[in-house]
Amino acid sequence: MTLILGIETSCDETSAAVVVDGRDVRSNIVSSQEDLHAKYAGVVPEIASRAHVERIDAVIEAALREADVSLQDIDAIAIADGPGLVGSLLIGVTAAKTLAWTLDVPIVAVDHIAAHATSAALATDEPLWPAVALVVSGGHTSLYHVRDFRAIELIGQTVDDAAGEAFDKVAAILELGFPGGPAVDRLAQGGNPRAHRFPRTWIKEDHANFSFSGLKTAVLYAVHGVGNKYGDLSKFSQQQFADVAASFQAALVETLAAKTIAAAQRLGVATVVVGGGVAANSALRRELEGRCAKNGLRLVLTPTVYCTDNAAMIAALGYHHFTAGDFAKFDLEPRSGLMRPKR
Ligand code: KG4
Ligand code: ZN
Repeated sequence: MTLILGIETSCDETSAAVVVDGRDVRSNIVSSQEDLHAKYAGVVPEIASRAHVERIDAVIEAALREADVSLQDIDAIAIADGPGLVGSLLIGVTAAKTLAWTLDVPIVAVDHIAAHATSAALATDEPLWPAVALVVSGGHTSLYHVRDFRAIELIGQTVDDAAGEAFDKVAAILELGFPGGPAVDRLAQGGNPRAHRFPRTWIKEDHANFSFSGLKTAVLYAVHGVGNKYGDLSKFSQQQFADVAASFQAALVETLAAKTIAAAQRLGVATVVVGGGVAANSALRRELEGRCAKNGLRLVLTPTVYCTDNAAMIAALGYHHFTAGDFAKFDLEPRSGLMRPKR
């Protein structure tokens, strides 16, 4: 039995988790900073790192307490070392090094995006790979060919906005607050997805890249400019708000789902997995369920609690690096940039 303490501080969630053998989540504490960043309608890096410093000790203690284990029981520390905000990552990396040094246990460095790409493993004991993984978060929208936990190849990504960013910007246009994804998701439930015909960029193209800036601009025009049927925002009815939200969401989730399925078919893999904050979106989950069933593909959705940033997915993937003996050294530094090559 291997007990891994996972730590995640790449953006604005301070999280620690205890996971046994990469599968059994004993605790997963997530302290969100949403309230601190809401008035800026986006994450402010300085505020985020300061909040991580203030919270990290208590979050780790809570994770151990809830798992009913002590630090001495931990076999390794798994830390998300990037990509993300360097100032935020640094707090987690420093905490991980300090604990690993004190306890004399190894550190495993876990790529945050690779953790999203493999987080569906927290949903099932069945073997998952090979699969196509759709990672849809605030900072990334990418498709991967996952051959194994440690063999993940990028096959396409957004050339401009990430899906979560598009949700957050549309929420800002509709004045729904930050983060916008859950608010748009809720509002869209009462809306007509066919009220506006928004672009589904590259939906039929033979490649796995995405572009969402045109969709975002189309929503902006539909609300404030060309194509606005309703006048100024203060005169919008609740139904009109809901129709814009539902039509935007439909364009985005149809594009994501269609391109994911096309990628699986091109690669000849039978399994689709999905992770990242936007994978919590109810319409995306439904759309993928429908399209995968129709195309004879197995769909494994990440449980919604492990979609948005969390340390359980870090500990879960960290377990596979641990068993491979892939340990980080004490000179480990946070990485702001893209996924680490080779993983
Ligand atoms: O994975 P995540 O927690 O952080 C990053 O690594 O970026 O993703 C956060 C993103 C935000 O943009 C948020 O608006 C979006 O995930 N999100 C959602 C939903 N829940 C979170 N988007 C659409 N529908 C949701 N239910
Ligand atoms: Zn994330």
